[in-house]
Amino acid sequence: MGSARSLLVTGAAGFIGVNFVYYWLQQYPQDKVIGLDALTYAGNLSSLEDALENNNFSFVQGDIRDQEMIESLMAEHSIDTIVHFAAESHVDRSISGPDAFIDTNIIGTHSMLKAARNQWLSSDAPEPHRFHHVSTDEVYGSLKRDDPAFTETTPYKPSSPYSASKAASDHLVHAYAHTYGLETTISNCSNNYGPYQFPEKLIPLVLINILHGKELPIYGDGKQIRDWLYVADHARGIDLIINKGRVGETYNIGGHNEWQNIDIVTLICERMNQLATENDELRKQFPNMPDDAKSLITFVKDRPGHDQRYAIDAHKSTTELGYVPEESFETGIKKTIEWYLQQQGWWQAVMDGSYKEWISSQYHQK
Ligand code: NAD
Ligand code: DAU
Repeated sequence: MGSARSLLVTGAAGFIGVNFVYYWLQQYPQDKVIGLDALTYAGNLSSLEDALENNNFSFVQGDIRDQEMIESLMAEHSIDTIVHFAAESHVDRSISGPDAFIDTNIIGTHSMLKAARNQWLSSDAPEPHRFHHVSTDEVYGSLKRDDPAFTETTPYKPSSPYSASKAASDHLVHAYAHTYGLETTISNCSNNYGPYQFPEKLIPLVLINILHGKELPIYGDGKQIRDWLYVADHARGIDLIINKGRVGETYNIGGHNEWQNIDIVTLICERMNQLATENDELRKQFPNMPDDAKSLITFVKDRPGHDQRYAIDAHKSTTELGYVPEESFETGIKKTIEWYLQQQGWWQAVMDGSYKEWISSQYHQK
């Protein structure tokens, strides 16, 4: 592949997609990046405001299930690399309404694969290319407290409609690599946190509820364990896989950072208590914030089929690619809290849906 790439990033207006676009534009200023997103409830074009100022970035609103549109985008921009983030991503939503997960995560990924095959493999001399599929540790199922962490050879045992749909999409990617010779890589990553995360996910939800003095819902006993990774470290991991990973391989990415949900929520409460003591302005802005945020912790009915524990063994990525998370949890959570306090306009607009108005006033395709 030549020195400058032309990337198609799907799900570019979602949490990880946005962080990845900023990371890539900074890291590889010579590359062209096309961000594609359907702008579902989870996608916010306002998050890409600064990227839209960059001449090497363009945004296209579109659905990954539209194979014809994907193919014409690939041809128009001579795309050589696809980084496929677009998905329905929230486990609770997959439990209350699985259909969208099947449509986007399975049918949508298949449509991306068909487009890539047509565009890259239809002649006798295939174009140099890479299809990187972004997946999750949830495909491996749930661990017991003392089980060893997931490796790339852990058998798939997804438990929710979300993780089952991601597992199916991973299998399709493997099948296109094996059967048609599509040059693919897959990353299976643990729980991400950081800027631009939609406030339905645990960390931003807790932060924002504390500011408003609203209950902090803890599912079940709160002893479920997740392995938290700062989102920029995920972007770096994907970069390493695209640039150094072996074609056809899967790489785990994780944070070596396991926390019980209740402990994470308690930690955020303590940080917010401290900030409120130091910062009168914050108290004035959010008069409903209690003296002790822990008083908001409320144990609620458990998530059906709730996975007990995820943990990633990233040994293969470390030894083969040199992947090591750079951000400590201490610094990552500090940055995240600061970002949400500074970007109130972003999450308020995202939560009340008024970012849609922003889109209609600002939306432009370069
Ligand atoms: P997100 O829900 O914040 O963003 C998903 C984006 O995809 C949104 O912008 C949405 O508009 C877009 N999208 C949805 N359906 C689409 C469609 N049919 N066509 C085009 N765009 C569509 O999700 P996220 O947390 O950024 O996750 C991104 C990817 O990373 C997903 O594939 C997810 O499975 C995976 N992942 C997430 C985590 C995590 O902790 N958040 C961890 C590991 C892997
Ligand atoms: O592991 C990677 C996965 O992490 C990604 O594939 C998913 O896209 C992403 O959403 C995330 O899934 P989780 O279900 O782990 O994330 P969530 O933030 O929804 O929940 C984290 C934990 O906190 C989980 O055990 C459920 C619990 N929880 C969550 C919410 C929203 C609560 O106790 N209360 C809540 O209100």
